[in-house]
Amino acid sequence: MLCAVLLMSLFCGCTAEEKSGSEELRVGVLLFNEDDLFISSMKQEIDKCFRRKEKEEGCRITVSFSDSMGSQTTQNEQIDTFIKRGYDVLCINLVDRTDAAAIIDKGKKADIPIVFFNREPVSADLSRWSKIYYVGTDASEGGRLQGEIFLDYYKKYPERIDKNGDGIIQYVLLEGEPGHQDAAIRTESCIKKIQEGGVEMYRLAGANANWRLNQGKEKMEGWLTEFGNEIEVVISNNDAMALGALDAMSASQWSDIHIEVVGMDGIEEALLAVKDGRMMGTVMNDAQGQAEVIAKIAYKLGRRETPENMQDMNDRVVRVPHDKISAEMLR
Ligand code: GAL
Repeated sequence: MLCAVLLMSLFCGCTAEEKSGSEELRVGVLLFNEDDLFISSMKQEIDKCFRRKEKEEGCRITVSFSDSMGSQTTQNEQIDTFIKRGYDVLCINLVDRTDAAAIIDKGKKADIPIVFFNREPVSADLSRWSKIYYVGTDASEGGRLQGEIFLDYYKKYPERIDKNGDGIIQYVLLEGEPGHQDAAIRTESCIKKIQEGGVEMYRLAGANANWRLNQGKEKMEGWLTEFGNEIEVVISNNDAMALGALDAMSASQWSDIHIEVVGMDGIEEALLAVKDGRMMGTVMNDAQGQAEVIAKIAYKLGRRETPENMQDMNDRVVRVPHDKISAEMLR
């Protein structure tokens, strides 16, 4: 802390006396890419939670966000700057989740604790220091709930899904980034759940669309041209790519085609699509719940206190539960 105050005086031009006695807590929040729809909703929620915390605790909290724009090199430089400026705690949404070791070592050297979120460091990295936490979700739970949404819907409206009536569901798959903990695991557990429900699945095609709406749209355009009405369902690792698939299907040449889509995240545009029947459902990736946990842990760590154990916390990892969202729930 003292070191942080001295560094502050070097970089901000304020003296140690000016800083001492001040109740200000400075939090640096680094986002892997602010263009990402879910991450931009997390940014808003994180900001709200710290504002609330400020009122509850009667302590000034300065939250500085930086956008790493998909570059780990840029993020490393931003981390260096926060460390030099003596921030009290960092909340990091890694660009490359396998690249946490050097960052943790920097935090440890400067004694600046870190709360990682959304992009999960490997467990060997998390055990490098006791002032490292991770806040995210359980990817396999998310995929399983997508599978349940599919099964519930299929039971109610089999003819809307199995259009050719062959008892096998022909699907296309929009996957997130390769190597992201939420991509392959969501896919695997969604398909497994559906198969365990006694439904045979046949994969027509699948591709990584990197969580992006425009890439989801592009992939879907190609599949519509190749398979047309043969596609019975689109399984998407997130809502942005699912919305891209809906965009592709809204082109006039596909007006006769009906394909069900399931997404994940619960972003606003997807909730609207579920409500008005353009999507069969989505799974709530609870941005608000995760932001609350991040703010709670970061506040304690920043004040050099140990965060108390909380529900869903295990070895400094908190996995906030998901929820299913169907049209009936929104009407
Ligand atoms: C996932 C989320 C995606 C994307 C990704 C970024 O959890 O479902 O939409 O935001 O994180 O890391």
